[in-house]
Amino acid sequence: MKKFFVLAISSVLLFGCAPGQREAELEGNVVVLDFAAAEQEISEYIYGHFAEHLGRGIYEGIWVGPDSDIPNVNGFRTDVIEALQKLNIPVLRWPGGCFADTYNWRNGIGPRDQRPTMVNTFWGGIVENNHFGTHEFFELCELLGAEAYVNVNVGSGSVREMIEWIEYMTADGDGPMAKLRRANGQEEPWDVKFLGIGNEMWGCGGQMTPETFSQIYRTYAHFARQYGGPEMIRIAAGGYGDHYNWNDVLLANAAPLMDGISIHYYTIPTGDWGNKSAATGFCDSLYFSSFRNAKLMETHVQRHIEILDTHDPDNRIGLYVAEWGIWTDQEPGSVPGFLYQQNSMRDALIASLHFDIFHKYAERIRGANIAQMVNVLQAMILTDGPRMLLTPTYHVFNMYQVHQNATKIPLTIQSEPFTINGESLPSITATASIKDGIVNIGVSNIHATEAREVVIDVSGGNLSQVANAIILTASAINSHNTFDNPNVVAPTEFAAYQLEGGKITITMPPHSIVKLKVN
Ligand code: AHR
Repeated sequence: MKKFFVLAISSVLLFGCAPGQREAELEGNVVVLDFAAAEQEISEYIYGHFAEHLGRGIYEGIWVGPDSDIPNVNGFRTDVIEALQKLNIPVLRWPGGCFADTYNWRNGIGPRDQRPTMVNTFWGGIVENNHFGTHEFFELCELLGAEAYVNVNVGSGSVREMIEWIEYMTADGDGPMAKLRRANGQEEPWDVKFLGIGNEMWGCGGQMTPETFSQIYRTYAHFARQYGGPEMIRIAAGGYGDHYNWNDVLLANAAPLMDGISIHYYTIPTGDWGNKSAATGFCDSLYFSSFRNAKLMETHVQRHIEILDTHDPDNRIGLYVAEWGIWTDQEPGSVPGFLYQQNSMRDALIASLHFDIFHKYAERIRGANIAQMVNVLQAMILTDGPRMLLTPTYHVFNMYQVHQNATKIPLTIQSEPFTINGESLPSITATASIKDGIVNIGVSNIHATEAREVVIDVSGGNLSQVANAIILTASAINSHNTFDNPNVVAPTEFAAYQLEGGKITITMPPHSIVKLKVN
Protein backbone atom coordinates (compact mmCIF):
# COMPACT_ATOMS: atom_id res chain seq x y z
CA MET A 1 0.00 0.00 0.00
CA LYS A 2 1.28 3.44 -0.89
CA LYS A 3 2.12 5.88 1.87
CA PHE A 4 0.69 9.36 1.40
CA PHE A 5 1.25 12.61 3.18
CA VAL A 6 -1.50 15.05 3.92
CA LEU A 7 0.42 18.25 4.60
CA ALA A 8 -2.30 20.68 5.44
CA ILE A 9 -5.93 20.22 6.20
CA SER A 10 -8.09 23.22 5.59
CA SER A 11 -10.76 24.04 8.10
CA VAL A 12 -13.37 23.74 5.40
CA LEU A 13 -14.57 20.25 4.60
CA LEU A 14 -13.47 19.09 1.21
CA PHE A 15 -15.58 16.91 -1.01
CA GLY A 16 -18.22 17.08 1.73
CA CYS A 17 -16.26 14.53 3.78
CA ALA A 18 -15.24 14.60 7.39
CA PRO A 19 -11.47 15.08 7.89
CA GLY A 20 -10.99 11.41 8.74
CA GLN A 21 -12.41 10.32 5.40
CA ARG A 22 -10.43 12.77 3.38
CA GLU A 23 -7.15 10.91 3.40
CA ALA A 24 -8.79 7.82 2.03
CA GLU A 25 -10.42 9.77 -0.80
CA LEU A 26 -7.30 11.53 -2.00
CA GLU A 27 -5.14 9.32 -4.12
CA GLY A 28 -1.80 10.01 -5.71
CA ASN A 29 -0.51 13.55 -5.62
CA VAL A 30 -3.29 16.02 -5.00
CA VAL A 31 -3.30 19.72 -4.30
CA VAL A 32 -6.69 21.14 -3.33
CA LEU A 33 -7.20 24.92 -3.35
CA ASP A 34 -9.54 26.19 -0.65
CA PHE A 35 -10.85 29.34 -2.29
CA ALA A 36 -13.40 29.95 0.46
CA ALA A 37 -10.59 30.36 3.01
CA ALA A 38 -8.54 32.81 0.91
CA GLU A 39 -8.24 35.89 3.15
CA GLN A 40 -4.65 36.57 4.08
CA GLU A 41 -2.45 38.77 1.93
CA ILE A 42 1.10 37.58 1.33
CA SER A 43 3.37 40.46 2.25
CA GLU A 44 5.51 41.53 -0.66
CA TYR A 45 8.39 41.87 1.82
CA ILE A 46 8.66 38.08 1.96
CA TYR A 47 10.52 38.55 -1.33
CA GLY A 48 13.18 40.72 0.28
CA HIS A 49 16.92 40.62 -0.29
CA PHE A 50 20.04 41.11 1.74
CA ALA A 51 23.33 42.69 0.63
CA GLU A 52 26.17 42.69 3.12
CA HIS A 53 29.68 44.06 2.86
CA LEU A 54 30.95 40.55 2.37
CA GLY A 55 33.19 39.17 -0.35
CA ARG A 56 32.10 40.28 -3.80
CA GLY A 57 28.49 40.83 -2.77
CA ILE A 58 28.60 44.59 -3.08
CA TYR A 59 32.02 45.42 -4.52
CA GLU A 60 32.18 43.94 -8.04
CA GLY A 61 28.75 42.31 -7.66
CA ILE A 62 26.78 45.55 -7.60
CA TRP A 63 29.17 48.44 -7.22
CA VAL A 64 32.12 48.81 -9.59
CA GLY A 65 32.57 52.55 -9.27
CA PRO A 66 31.98 55.18 -11.97
CA ASP A 67 35.48 54.77 -13.44
CA SER A 68 35.17 51.03 -14.06
CA ASP A 69 35.48 49.48 -17.51
CA ILE A 70 32.44 47.40 -16.62
CA PRO A 71 29.41 49.26 -18.00
CA ASN A 72 27.78 51.09 -15.11
CA VAL A 73 25.44 53.89 -14.15
CA ASN A 74 26.95 56.07 -11.44
CA GLY A 75 29.12 53.12 -10.38
CA PHE A 76 26.34 50.48 -10.33
CA ARG A 77 26.94 47.77 -12.87
CA THR A 78 24.28 47.96 -15.56
CA ASP A 79 23.90 44.23 -16.26
CA VAL A 80 23.29 43.29 -12.64
CA ILE A 81 20.93 46.18 -11.92
CA GLU A 82 18.87 45.45 -15.02
CA ALA A 83 18.53 41.80 -14.05
CA LEU A 84 17.61 42.64 -10.47
CA GLN A 85 15.03 45.20 -11.56
CA LYS A 86 13.04 42.40 -13.19
CA LEU A 87 12.55 40.73 -9.80
CA ASN A 88 10.57 43.62 -8.29
CA ILE A 89 12.65 43.51 -5.15
CA PRO A 90 10.47 45.02 -2.43
CA VAL A 91 13.09 45.58 0.27
CA LEU A 92 16.85 45.45 0.66
CA ARG A 93 18.59 44.80 3.98
CA TRP A 94 22.03 46.39 4.46
CA PRO A 95 24.91 46.72 5.55
CA GLY A 96 24.91 43.34 7.34
CA GLY A 97 24.83 40.78 8.89
CA CYS A 98 27.80 40.50 11.17
CA PHE A 99 29.38 43.40 9.30
CA ALA A 100 26.66 45.75 10.56
CA ASP A 101 27.91 45.43 14.12
CA THR A 102 31.33 46.71 13.10
CA TYR A 103 30.13 49.43 10.75
CA ASN A 104 30.59 53.14 11.36
CA TRP A 105 28.23 54.95 9.01
CA ARG A 106 30.24 58.18 9.19
CA ASN A 107 33.06 56.50 7.27
CA GLY A 108 30.72 55.90 4.33
CA ILE A 109 29.70 59.48 3.50
CA GLY A 110 31.40 62.40 1.76
CA PRO A 111 33.85 62.37 -1.15
CA ARG A 112 34.78 58.77 -1.81
CA ASP A 113 38.48 59.34 -2.09
CA GLN A 114 38.51 60.85 1.39
CA ARG A 115 36.52 58.17 3.15
CA PRO A 116 38.38 56.36 5.92
CA THR A 117 39.01 52.65 5.46
CA MET A 118 38.39 49.83 7.91
CA VAL A 119 39.19 46.15 8.21
CA ASN A 120 36.29 43.82 7.55
CA THR A 121 37.13 41.51 10.41
CA PHE A 122 34.33 39.04 9.91
CA TRP A 123 34.71 38.49 6.20
CA GLY A 124 38.21 37.77 5.04
CA GLY A 125 39.97 40.55 6.97
CA ILE A 126 40.12 42.66 3.84
CA VAL A 127 40.30 46.44 3.82
CA GLU A 128 36.91 48.02 3.22
CA ASN A 129 37.24 51.35 1.42
CA ASN A 130 33.74 52.55 2.31
CA HIS A 131 33.07 53.61 -1.28
CA PHE A 132 29.64 52.08 -0.96
CA GLY A 133 27.94 53.92 1.89
CA THR A 134 24.62 55.46 2.84
CA HIS A 135 24.14 57.53 -0.33
CA GLU A 136 25.06 54.63 -2.57
CA PHE A 137 22.71 52.33 -0.65
CA PHE A 138 19.74 54.63 -1.12
CA GLU A 139 20.58 55.12 -4.77
CA LEU A 140 20.60 51.35 -5.15
CA CYS A 141 17.21 51.10 -3.44
CA GLU A 142 15.88 53.72 -5.81
CA LEU A 143 17.26 51.89 -8.85
CA LEU A 144 15.62 48.67 -7.67
CA GLY A 145 12.41 50.30 -6.46
CA ALA A 146 13.06 48.69 -3.07
CA GLU A 147 12.36 49.91 0.44
CA ALA A 148 15.34 50.37 2.75
CA TYR A 149 15.99 48.01 5.65
CA VAL A 150 18.91 49.54 7.51
CA ASN A 151 20.56 47.43 10.17
CA VAL A 152 22.18 49.60 12.83
CA ASN A 153 25.29 48.79 14.80
CA VAL A 154 24.49 47.71 18.35
CA GLY A 155 27.44 45.41 19.03
CA SER A 156 30.25 47.97 18.71
CA GLY A 157 28.36 51.20 18.03
CA SER A 158 26.43 53.52 20.29
CA VAL A 159 22.95 54.90 20.70
CA ARG A 160 24.35 58.33 19.73
CA GLU A 161 25.72 56.90 16.45
CA MET A 162 22.34 55.41 15.67
CA ILE A 163 20.42 58.59 16.50
CA GLU A 164 22.69 60.65 14.26
CA TRP A 165 22.51 58.14 11.42
CA ILE A 166 18.72 58.15 11.55
CA GLU A 167 18.76 61.94 11.65
CA TYR A 168 21.17 62.02 8.70
CA MET A 169 18.96 59.72 6.66
CA THR A 170 15.50 60.97 7.54
CA ALA A 171 15.55 64.55 8.87
CA ASP A 172 14.45 67.61 6.97
CA GLY A 173 14.93 71.14 8.35
CA ASP A 174 18.06 72.79 9.66
CA GLY A 175 19.42 70.20 12.07
CA PRO A 176 23.12 69.37 11.86
CA MET A 177 22.73 65.95 10.30
CA ALA A 178 20.28 67.14 7.64
CA LYS A 179 22.76 69.89 6.78
CA LEU A 180 25.59 67.39 6.56
CA ARG A 181 23.54 65.20 4.24
CA ARG A 182 22.79 68.17 2.02
CA ALA A 183 26.43 69.14 2.00
CA ASN A 184 27.09 65.62 0.70
CA GLY A 185 24.68 66.12 -2.16
CA GLN A 186 21.34 64.77 -0.98
CA GLU A 187 18.75 67.47 -0.52
CA GLU A 188 15.70 65.40 0.37
CA PRO A 189 15.61 63.02 3.30
CA TRP A 190 15.20 59.35 2.53
CA ASP A 191 12.58 57.02 3.93
CA VAL A 192 13.79 54.19 6.13
CA LYS A 193 10.93 51.74 6.19
CA PHE A 194 12.64 49.06 8.29
CA LEU A 195 15.23 49.50 11.00
CA GLY A 196 17.04 46.39 12.15
CA ILE A 197 18.30 46.80 15.71
CA GLY A 198 21.24 44.46 16.14
CA ASN A 199 22.16 41.27 14.34
CA GLU A 200 22.75 37.83 15.86
CA MET A 201 23.42 39.44 19.24
CA TRP A 202 23.90 35.98 20.70
CA GLY A 203 26.87 35.48 18.34
CA CYS A 204 28.76 37.88 16.08
CA GLY A 205 26.73 40.83 17.38
CA GLY A 206 28.28 40.65 20.83
CA GLN A 207 27.90 37.21 22.47
CA MET A 208 25.07 38.52 24.65
CA THR A 209 22.46 36.74 26.70
CA PRO A 210 18.83 37.45 25.80
CA GLU A 211 18.38 39.18 29.15
CA THR A 212 21.27 41.57 28.45
CA PHE A 213 20.18 42.28 24.92
CA SER A 214 16.60 42.90 26.06
CA GLN A 215 17.65 45.94 28.05
CA ILE A 216 20.04 47.18 25.38
CA TYR A 217 17.33 46.72 22.78
CA ARG A 218 14.86 48.75 24.83
CA THR A 219 17.25 51.68 24.91
CA TYR A 220 18.04 51.58 21.19
CA ALA A 221 14.39 51.13 20.24
CA HIS A 222 13.39 54.02 22.48
CA PHE A 223 15.70 56.41 20.62
CA ALA A 224 15.02 54.99 17.18
CA ARG A 225 12.70 57.61 15.73
CA GLN A 226 12.33 58.74 12.16
CA TYR A 227 12.50 62.51 11.75
CA GLY A 228 9.71 62.75 9.24
CA GLY A 229 7.44 60.45 7.29
CA PRO A 230 5.92 57.32 8.74
CA GLU A 231 7.42 55.61 11.74
CA MET A 232 10.02 52.96 11.00
CA ILE A 233 9.26 49.31 11.53
CA ARG A 234 11.73 48.45 14.30
CA ILE A 235 12.90 44.86 14.04
CA ALA A 236 14.59 43.36 17.07
CA ALA A 237 17.48 40.98 16.38
CA GLY A 238 16.05 37.59 17.25
CA GLY A 239 17.49 34.15 17.58
CA TYR A 240 18.69 31.51 15.18
CA GLY A 241 16.15 28.91 14.02
CA ASP A 242 15.80 26.95 17.25
CA HIS A 243 16.72 29.77 19.64
CA TYR A 244 13.21 29.81 20.98
CA ASN A 245 14.24 31.02 24.42
CA TRP A 246 15.98 34.05 22.92
CA ASN A 247 12.83 35.36 21.27
CA ASP A 248 10.71 34.40 24.28
CA VAL A 249 12.86 36.46 26.67
CA LEU A 250 13.18 39.37 24.26
CA LEU A 251 9.45 39.52 23.70
CA ALA A 252 8.74 39.20 27.43
CA ASN A 253 10.98 42.20 28.11
CA ALA A 254 10.57 44.46 25.13
CA ALA A 255 7.51 43.57 23.03
CA PRO A 256 5.91 47.04 23.26
CA LEU A 257 9.08 48.56 21.77
CA MET A 258 9.22 46.42 18.67
CA ASP A 259 7.21 46.10 15.47
CA GLY A 260 9.01 43.00 14.31
CA ILE A 261 11.35 40.34 15.57
CA SER A 262 13.72 38.41 13.34
CA ILE A 263 15.01 34.91 13.06
CA HIS A 264 17.81 33.60 10.89
CA TYR A 265 17.95 30.05 9.63
CA TYR A 266 20.20 28.52 6.99
CA THR A 267 19.95 25.16 5.24
CA ILE A 268 23.22 23.34 5.80
CA PRO A 269 23.08 20.20 3.61
CA THR A 270 25.02 18.03 6.08
CA GLY A 271 23.74 19.82 9.17
CA ASP A 272 27.41 20.29 10.10
CA TRP A 273 28.71 23.89 9.98
CA GLY A 274 32.29 22.65 9.86
CA ASN A 275 31.71 20.56 6.76
CA LYS A 276 28.71 21.83 4.86
CA SER A 277 29.47 19.96 1.58
CA ALA A 278 30.09 21.18 -1.94
CA ALA A 279 27.63 23.42 -3.75
CA THR A 280 27.43 21.23 -6.84
CA GLY A 281 29.36 18.04 -6.06
CA PHE A 282 26.73 16.30 -3.94
CA CYS A 283 25.15 12.86 -3.98
CA ASP A 284 21.49 11.84 -3.70
CA SER A 285 21.61 11.43 0.06
CA LEU A 286 23.04 14.95 0.52
CA TYR A 287 20.38 16.22 -1.83
CA PHE A 288 17.81 14.55 0.41
CA SER A 289 19.29 15.85 3.66
CA SER A 290 19.30 19.36 2.18
CA PHE A 291 15.52 19.19 1.98
CA ARG A 292 15.20 17.57 5.38
CA ASN A 293 17.13 20.49 6.83
CA ALA A 294 15.37 23.11 4.73
CA LYS A 295 12.04 21.84 5.97
CA LEU A 296 13.13 22.61 9.52
CA MET A 297 12.37 26.20 8.59
CA GLU A 298 8.71 25.31 8.99
CA THR A 299 9.29 23.77 12.45
CA HIS A 300 11.14 26.89 13.57
CA VAL A 301 8.65 29.31 12.13
CA GLN A 302 5.75 27.46 13.75
CA ARG A 303 7.39 27.55 17.16
CA HIS A 304 8.40 31.19 16.88
CA ILE A 305 4.84 32.04 15.90
CA GLU A 306 3.51 30.22 18.96
CA ILE A 307 5.86 32.31 21.10
CA LEU A 308 4.71 35.48 19.37
CA ASP A 309 1.09 34.46 19.87
CA THR A 310 1.72 34.24 23.61
CA HIS A 311 3.29 37.69 23.91
CA ASP A 312 1.39 39.42 21.16
CA PRO A 313 -2.03 37.81 20.79
CA ASP A 314 -3.25 40.73 18.67
CA ASN A 315 -0.71 39.90 15.98
CA ARG A 316 0.89 43.37 15.94
CA ILE A 317 4.50 42.22 15.82
CA GLY A 318 5.67 40.62 12.58
CA LEU A 319 8.07 37.72 12.26
CA TYR A 320 10.89 38.54 9.86
CA VAL A 321 13.09 35.76 8.52
CA ALA A 322 15.89 38.22 7.97
CA GLU A 323 18.39 35.65 6.66
CA TRP A 324 17.63 32.37 4.93
CA GLY A 325 18.99 30.17 2.18
CA ILE A 326 21.29 27.23 1.54
CA TRP A 327 24.85 27.60 2.81
CA THR A 328 27.40 25.21 1.31
CA ASP A 329 31.18 25.09 1.29
CA GLN A 330 32.54 27.93 -0.72
CA GLU A 331 33.85 27.26 -4.21
CA PRO A 332 37.35 25.76 -4.25
CA GLY A 333 39.87 28.48 -5.05
CA SER A 334 37.62 31.35 -4.03
CA VAL A 335 38.85 33.81 -1.41
CA PRO A 336 38.43 32.42 2.12
CA GLY A 337 35.66 34.21 3.97
CA PHE A 338 33.95 35.43 0.80
CA LEU A 339 31.19 32.78 0.93
CA TYR A 340 31.05 32.44 -2.83
CA GLN A 341 29.09 29.34 -3.82
CA GLN A 342 27.54 27.98 -6.98
CA ASN A 343 23.80 27.52 -7.21
CA SER A 344 22.08 24.47 -8.63
CA MET A 345 18.66 23.07 -9.48
CA ARG A 346 18.54 21.79 -5.91
CA ASP A 347 18.85 25.34 -4.64
CA ALA A 348 15.99 26.50 -6.85
CA LEU A 349 13.82 23.88 -5.14
CA ILE A 350 15.07 25.01 -1.74
CA ALA A 351 13.87 28.52 -2.67
CA SER A 352 10.43 27.40 -3.85
CA LEU A 353 10.04 25.28 -0.71
CA HIS A 354 10.83 28.33 1.44
CA PHE A 355 8.26 30.46 -0.35
CA ASP A 356 5.68 27.72 0.17
CA ILE A 357 6.43 27.86 3.90
CA PHE A 358 6.52 31.65 4.12
CA HIS A 359 3.19 31.95 2.31
CA LYS A 360 1.61 29.32 4.52
CA TYR A 361 2.43 31.37 7.62
CA ALA A 362 1.76 34.75 6.02
CA GLU A 363 -0.51 35.74 8.90
CA ARG A 364 2.60 36.36 10.98
CA ILE A 365 5.53 36.39 8.55
CA ARG A 366 5.75 39.96 7.28
CA GLY A 367 9.15 39.77 5.67
CA ALA A 368 12.09 37.59 4.67
CA ASN A 369 15.48 38.30 3.17
CA ILE A 370 17.39 35.77 1.09
CA ALA A 371 21.07 35.61 1.90
CA GLN A 372 22.34 37.11 -0.26
CA MET A 373 21.66 39.07 -3.44
CA VAL A 374 24.85 38.73 -5.53
CA ASN A 375 27.96 36.48 -5.29
CA VAL A 376 27.35 35.46 -1.67
CA LEU A 377 25.64 32.26 -0.43
CA GLN A 378 22.34 31.52 -2.25
CA ALA A 379 22.68 34.36 -4.70
CA MET A 380 20.46 35.52 -7.54
CA ILE A 381 23.44 36.49 -9.66
CA LEU A 382 27.07 35.45 -9.92
CA THR A 383 29.69 37.64 -11.53
CA ASP A 384 33.16 37.05 -12.86
CA GLY A 385 34.74 40.38 -13.77
CA PRO A 386 32.56 41.77 -16.55
CA ARG A 387 30.55 38.55 -16.93
CA MET A 388 27.45 37.61 -15.04
CA LEU A 389 24.95 34.77 -14.87
CA LEU A 390 21.49 34.29 -13.44
CA THR A 391 21.26 31.41 -11.00
CA PRO A 392 18.43 28.87 -10.75
CA THR A 393 17.36 30.71 -7.58
CA TYR A 394 16.96 33.93 -9.59
CA HIS A 395 14.46 32.15 -11.81
CA VAL A 396 12.37 31.04 -8.83
CA PHE A 397 12.25 34.59 -7.49
CA ASN A 398 11.15 35.70 -10.93
CA MET A 399 8.50 33.00 -11.34
CA TYR A 400 7.09 33.48 -7.82
CA GLN A 401 7.06 37.29 -7.63
CA VAL A 402 3.41 37.15 -8.74
CA HIS A 403 2.57 36.15 -5.16
CA GLN A 404 3.70 39.50 -3.76
CA ASN A 405 0.66 41.18 -2.16
CA ALA A 406 -1.65 38.48 -3.52
CA THR A 407 -4.13 36.65 -1.30
CA LYS A 408 -2.96 33.26 -0.15
CA ILE A 409 -5.21 30.34 -1.06
CA PRO A 410 -4.86 27.69 1.66
CA LEU A 411 -4.02 24.24 0.36
CA THR A 412 -4.51 20.63 1.23
CA ILE A 413 -1.61 18.66 -0.20
CA GLN A 414 -1.22 14.97 -0.49
CA SER A 415 2.02 13.63 -1.82
CA GLU A 416 3.72 10.41 -2.68
CA PRO A 417 6.96 10.12 -0.78
CA PHE A 418 10.55 10.73 -1.76
CA THR A 419 12.41 8.01 0.11
CA ILE A 420 16.12 7.50 0.58
CA ASN A 421 17.75 5.08 3.01
CA GLY A 422 14.41 4.39 4.64
CA GLU A 423 13.70 8.05 5.33
CA SER A 424 10.88 9.86 3.54
CA LEU A 425 9.81 13.36 2.71
CA PRO A 426 6.76 14.38 0.69
CA SER A 427 7.90 14.85 -2.87
CA ILE A 428 5.32 17.55 -3.63
CA THR A 429 5.21 20.99 -2.10
CA ALA A 430 3.08 23.86 -3.38
CA THR A 431 1.60 27.31 -2.94
CA ALA A 432 -1.25 29.30 -4.49
CA SER A 433 -2.56 32.83 -4.40
CA ILE A 434 -5.14 35.02 -6.09
CA LYS A 435 -4.96 38.64 -7.17
CA ASP A 436 -7.33 40.51 -9.46
CA GLY A 437 -9.13 37.28 -10.31
CA ILE A 438 -5.92 35.59 -11.46
CA VAL A 439 -4.76 32.49 -9.64
CA ASN A 440 -1.08 31.60 -9.55
CA ILE A 441 -0.07 28.13 -8.49
CA GLY A 442 3.46 26.89 -7.86
CA VAL A 443 4.16 23.19 -7.51
CA SER A 444 7.55 21.63 -6.80
CA ASN A 445 8.55 18.02 -7.19
CA ILE A 446 11.67 17.57 -5.09
CA HIS A 447 12.06 13.89 -5.97
CA ALA A 448 15.54 13.31 -7.33
CA THR A 449 14.64 10.70 -9.92
CA GLU A 450 10.88 10.18 -10.24
CA ALA A 451 8.29 12.10 -12.19
CA ARG A 452 5.04 12.97 -10.47
CA GLU A 453 1.56 13.37 -11.82
CA VAL A 454 -0.21 15.98 -9.71
CA VAL A 455 -3.93 16.72 -9.73
CA ILE A 456 -4.66 20.32 -8.74
CA ASP A 457 -8.25 20.72 -7.66
CA VAL A 458 -9.38 24.25 -8.52
CA SER A 459 -13.08 23.39 -8.62
CA GLY A 460 -13.88 26.00 -5.96
CA GLY A 461 -12.56 28.79 -8.12
CA ASN A 462 -14.68 29.04 -11.24
CA LEU A 463 -11.61 28.98 -13.47
CA SER A 464 -11.71 28.21 -17.15
CA GLN A 465 -8.23 28.35 -18.60
CA VAL A 466 -4.55 28.00 -17.92
CA ALA A 467 -3.29 31.27 -19.33
CA ASN A 468 0.36 30.54 -18.89
CA ALA A 469 2.51 27.65 -17.66
CA ILE A 470 6.25 27.53 -17.12
CA ILE A 471 8.65 24.98 -15.76
CA LEU A 472 12.09 25.15 -14.22
CA THR A 473 13.98 21.90 -14.37
CA ALA A 474 17.27 20.47 -15.59
CA SER A 475 18.87 17.18 -16.46
CA ALA A 476 20.44 16.66 -13.02
CA ILE A 477 19.84 17.73 -9.43
CA ASN A 478 23.14 19.57 -9.45
CA SER A 479 22.76 21.20 -12.87
CA HIS A 480 23.86 24.80 -12.70
CA ASN A 481 24.63 27.76 -14.87
CA THR A 482 28.20 28.70 -15.67
CA PHE A 483 29.69 31.77 -17.31
CA ASP A 484 30.27 29.70 -20.45
CA ASN A 485 26.88 27.98 -20.29
CA PRO A 486 24.55 30.44 -18.55
CA ASN A 487 21.24 28.85 -19.59
CA VAL A 488 21.60 25.26 -18.42
CA VAL A 489 18.88 25.91 -15.84
CA ALA A 490 16.32 28.37 -17.17
CA PRO A 491 12.54 28.44 -17.30
CA THR A 492 10.75 27.15 -20.38
CA GLU A 493 7.15 26.83 -21.44
CA PHE A 494 5.31 23.93 -19.90
CA ALA A 495 2.73 22.00 -21.89
CA ALA A 496 2.13 18.83 -19.84
CA TYR A 497 -1.11 19.97 -18.27
CA GLN A 498 -4.81 19.44 -18.79
CA LEU A 499 -7.70 21.35 -17.26
CA GLU A 500 -10.91 19.39 -17.08
CA GLY A 501 -13.84 19.38 -14.69
CA GLY A 502 -12.22 21.81 -12.26
CA LYS A 503 -9.01 19.81 -12.05
CA ILE A 504 -5.66 20.57 -13.60
CA THR A 505 -3.51 17.52 -14.08
CA ILE A 506 0.18 18.14 -14.55
CA THR A 507 3.00 15.72 -15.18
CA MET A 508 6.16 16.95 -13.51
CA PRO A 509 9.61 15.58 -14.26
CA PRO A 510 11.88 14.86 -11.29
CA HIS A 511 13.36 17.92 -9.53
CA SER A 512 11.12 20.46 -11.20
CA ILE A 513 9.04 23.53 -10.41
CA VAL A 514 5.91 24.37 -12.35
CA LYS A 515 4.15 27.72 -12.20
CA LEU A 516 0.63 28.02 -13.58
CA LYS A 517 -1.36 31.16 -14.17
CA VAL A 518 -5.04 30.31 -14.24
CA ASN A 519 -8.11 32.44 -14.79
O1 AHR B 1 24.93 35.98 5.67
C1 AHR B 1 26.16 35.71 6.22
C2 AHR B 1 26.18 35.84 7.74
O2 AHR B 1 25.36 34.86 8.30
C3 AHR B 1 25.64 37.12 8.30
O3 AHR B 1 26.58 38.13 8.32
C4 AHR B 1 25.28 36.73 9.70
O4 AHR B 1 24.23 37.49 10.22
C5 AHR B 1 24.94 35.26 9.58
O5 AHR B 1 25.59 34.50 10.52
